Amino acid sequence: MFEAPSWEERYSGEQQVWSGNPNTQLVAEASALTPRTALDVGCGEGGDVIWLAQRGWTVTGADFSANGLARAARHAEEAGVADRTDWWQVDARTFAAEGRQFDLVTTHFLHPPDGGMVDVTRRLAGAVAPGGHLLVVGHAPSGVFTQLSDSHRKAMFLAEELLPALPDDFEPLVVEQRPRTAVRDGVTIEVEDATLLARRRA
Ligand SMILES: C[S@@+](CC[C@H](N)C(=O)[O-])C[C@H]1O[C@@H](n2cnc3c(N)ncnc32)[C@H](O)[C@@H]1O
Repeated sequence: MFEAPSWEERYSGEQQVWSGNPNTQLVAEASALTPRTALDVGCGEGGDVIWLAQRGWTVTGADFSANGLARAARHAEEAGVADRTDWWQVDARTFAAEGRQFDLVTTHFLHPPDGGMVDVTRRLAGAVAPGGHLLVVGHAPSGVFTQLSDSHRKAMFLAEELLPALPDDFEPLVVEQRPRTAVRDGVTIEVEDATLLARRRA
């Protein structure tokens, strides 16, 4: 699950993998922001990209899966927001902003292995424009996930573990685990979203 080929396979079938609904913490935090430019890294099928675009953001969806990006582009077309979206095939673990800056950089449930989210957060911070926001959300470690491999469990994180990745000109606004009810394979479970929201000083 950590490398592109397994995601390519997952996104190659007919069936939609994700609900298409925007993520809870994105809605909680981005609803109050003025729509400008956004980057969603690990965008999958584009649910968050489309939600942002429908609210007036101009959004770049990034993922390392070409199949995922193709699906996301198709969904954006169907939702009538293709003109507000573009797509960028990148590996978050080697991501470099290449001079591009965004008013919101967001990522949900990316989970690189073995604590890699600290480095990814540092890389994503490099793409935030002055005065812009960085929103990083993932699964906090939980008993719900005991069936997973060691690498998977180490891929989960607490929001405070990401703080060392923030450059000096970032101010943390939210650093917490937020409880959320989710349905997995028809079963309702309680999870916690590790949520880091930080603002880069203008
Ligand atoms: C669990 S899915 C989440 C998709 C979407 N953010 C959502 O919340 O519905 C993780 C996504 O991150 C992508 N991904 C995983 N590791 C990545 C990496 N190192 N670089 C870029 N994308 C990655 C996968 O292809 C997949 O689309």
